[in-house]
Amino acid sequence: MGILGKLIALAILTAITAIVFQLFIKSDKLDLLQTEPKWFGKNKLKSGEPLPKDPDTINKFTVNISDEVLSELKQRLRSTRFVKPLPDSQFNYGFNGDYLKQVVDYWLTKFDWRKQEKELNKYNHFKTKISGIDIHFIHIKPTKPAKTIVPLMLIHGWPGSIWEFYKTIPLLTEPTADGLAFEVICPSIPGYGFSEAPNQSGLDSIQTAHIFIKLMKKLNHNNFVVNGGDWGSFVARSMAKLYPQNIRGLHLNLNSCMIPKGIHFVKYLTAMWFPKLVFENPDRDYPRIFPLKKRFQFLMRESGYFHIQATKPDTVSAALADSPAGLAAYLLEKSAMASNAQNIDKWDGGLTDGYTLDEWLTGVMLYWVSDNVAATFRFYKENVESVFGYNWDEQPIDATVPVGVANFPNEISHCPKELVGYKILNLVHFTEQPRGGHFAAFEEPKLFADDIKLFAKNVLDIEKQSTKQQK
Ligand SMILES: *[C@@H]1O[C@H](CO)[C@@H](O)[C@H](O)[C@H]1NC(C)=O
Ligand SMILES: *[C@@H]1O[C@H](CO)[C@@H](O)[C@H](O)[C@H]1NC(C)=O
Repeated sequence: MGILGKLIALAILTAITAIVFQLFIKSDKLDLLQTEPKWFGKNKLKSGEPLPKDPDTINKFTVNISDEVLSELKQRLRSTRFVKPLPDSQFNYGFNGDYLKQVVDYWLTKFDWRKQEKELNKYNHFKTKISGIDIHFIHIKPTKPAKTIVPLMLIHGWPGSIWEFYKTIPLLTEPTADGLAFEVICPSIPGYGFSEAPNQSGLDSIQTAHIFIKLMKKLNHNNFVVNGGDWGSFVARSMAKLYPQNIRGLHLNLNSCMIPKGIHFVKYLTAMWFPKLVFENPDRDYPRIFPLKKRFQFLMRESGYFHIQATKPDTVSAALADSPAGLAAYLLEKSAMASNAQNIDKWDGGLTDGYTLDEWLTGVMLYWVSDNVAATFRFYKENVESVFGYNWDEQPIDATVPVGVANFPNEISHCPKELVGYKILNLVHFTEQPRGGHFAAFEEPKLFADDIKLFAKNVLDIEKQSTKQQK
């Protein structure tokens, strides 16, 4: 028996012990680690001092990077030393060094940041102080009068940014034939893009949820729909768990299964051996989460970055804060694999299949110009030490919040519809998408927008029904 075999045997033994535990030993009440908002301002509060009130001011912001930053960037790009890849290795050893040379040449000679800046500035940007730090966001209202306007927050993750949503926003703000349109707000997670990074530890997705709820209240939105992918899905779920009264609907495009609890754990184990008993479509859903050995190998191959960022974020940041080429390789390798794992066998990681280097490099620039890649990495460490370390995943979302899931086939991890019940009590919408992966809004802007519209219609119908019942 190889080491992997032993690991699997160990996993099965652990699973059996866990069944006994989960079924027969009463579990403790599940509590969130930190439910109180904290202060992240530079001026430290004295112990016991109440949180200062956030100022009401919201300032307009324009993306305008100085010439000095841009010329210094070019200087660094010009002196890049490249990795010489093994013959025919494509992306199997990580970002291909020969292709990186091509990307850097493009960045130096063809990429026009000022043009991309205009594109970024086509939506209104703002900054406002919340919990002591500057929070950046874009805010886009419907283009025409609409019968029903639903406020919608879209939350990015890593290695994403607000830029991910630029292609889907116009599809959401344009009213549908029956008069539904969205007022879209996309904030940058603290430390990402133009949002300030905290100068202290503890800013995880739970604290980000507190901050984003405060942001929506500042904009006079006490009830809204929220969507999240990647870390955005953790922030959005935390918002729904902490503030169910403010969330009209929660829409997720990352929906992964950790180990489900209670009866869903039994279902999970049954699905492992008898998929037909559990899944409506076993041919599609079984391979997405089983066999465990294959899933484990795949996740090991694709998640090394996660382990580094969750443990020693500043070490790798030392290299990436200094080398724009290194930063591009690191971020874009992950982008390539998360949009489609088959890209590992392509010389250019599939980055130009349907996308342009202008698009990718604009995303990378948002990490470079902020000069704070370490903050985006530390977010992993903060989350692993809070969200992942406790019972956050299995603490269900309040049944008053309708939840919708858009399942994109190339997403890295899945939780089939039959298994989500352990954490989602009020699933009202679950769609299987024909194409797309981890960066759904960026990869498939129309499928993404259409799914949010469908979900919102569903939410509006539910709201109508419940007001009728109350009358
Ligand atoms: C960017 O800043 C420069 C220098 O301060 C200024 O001349 C230019 O008009 C600004 N551009 C935008 C789009 O605000
Ligand atoms: C962070 O805080 C420390 C002191 O608490 C200070 O010395 C340091 O300059 C601050 N760093 C930043 C980036 O503000």
